[in-house]
Amino acid sequence: MAVPYSRTVGALSAAAVALVVLSACARTDSPASPSDKDTGKVTVACGATEEWCTAMTAAFTRKTGIKAEYVRLSSGEAVARIQAGKANPEFDVWHGGPADGYAAAVAQQLLENYVSPNAAAIPDRYKDPAGSWTGVYVGLLGFCSNTKILAEKHVAVPQSWQDLLNPALKRDIGIAHPSTSGTAYTAMWTQVALHHGDQDAALGYMKQLHPNVLQYSKSGAAPAQQAARGEVGVGVIFSHDCVAAQEQGFKDLTVSFPAEGTGYEVGGVALVKGAHNPVSAREYIDWALTAEAQEIGPAAKAYQAPTNPTAKVSDKTADLSKVKVIDYDVDAAGKAKKDLTKRFDTEVASAPKA
Ligand code: G6P
Repeated sequence: MAVPYSRTVGALSAAAVALVVLSACARTDSPASPSDKDTGKVTVACGATEEWCTAMTAAFTRKTGIKAEYVRLSSGEAVARIQAGKANPEFDVWHGGPADGYAAAVAQQLLENYVSPNAAAIPDRYKDPAGSWTGVYVGLLGFCSNTKILAEKHVAVPQSWQDLLNPALKRDIGIAHPSTSGTAYTAMWTQVALHHGDQDAALGYMKQLHPNVLQYSKSGAAPAQQAARGEVGVGVIFSHDCVAAQEQGFKDLTVSFPAEGTGYEVGGVALVKGAHNPVSAREYIDWALTAEAQEIGPAAKAYQAPTNPTAKVSDKTADLSKVKVIDYDVDAAGKAKKDLTKRFDTEVASAPKA
């Protein structure tokens, strides 16, 4: 039988009531309760580089003693895998990868709101107020050019989206497929924004680019390796992935940003709906938002900007204030993702190349 509210409150001291109210505010609709099942481990769908995922999960275990495993998945793959495991979730947490993928997962009811107490430190523009996802890093989309290859073709390092359409770059551009890759979807939504919300015009640009694309890779960072090996002249990727490739010794690589404006990602972290280990998962999210966790990136050659303003920023991280960026509407991009990527597949990727 339900206990009447007045009797319940009457039995509590004023201090206890305040405590209940405070903790309810901090943890909104997903409080850790003693009834939560948890086996003291966490399985992470990890959306950034392997090296970053390994470093993050290991550091979390060192800090908390909670075992952490991960599977590296590109953005679209993560949504598909979380969707496939809806009845019996494989993952507890999703960490890394652009937030519009998280917004797409919200539309499929795959995530559970959790406002971590540590989210208070993260600027509003880098989090969903309801707590469906919270930002952990910011990355800028850019061009990663192999200067040696471009010099052989007498093509200058591209400085605009228009430059990528140069016929001299036929099959010389690497970009991932937006259905799997959050990086490539960021590129595609950037076109939507540059065309004032006109999705047909954005697809029109991708169609024009198509003859210059060597192949659409699965993961977003793969074109950095293609450019490094000289298989393409230019990779359209997050600029920090190009910096990481330069660090591997590929000195012919150079980063440029399009003059029209570029897109950016807010890499997210979120609680998977129905997670088997919700207590450990919340602890993981709390930790991922700390400066300590966000300072791990550079040690794993991941130079995104941290979202926690107190985290130290690597001198290899791009200065966000010096690059022209578009207004990236994460929610609109997330809602449009399913249809737009389907259209890309049928109208662009499958079109023959002249
Ligand atoms: C790389 C970048 C991350 C980005 C991720 C997206 O790992 O370093 O900043 O979030 O790519 O991956 P995807 O394969 O979905 O494009």
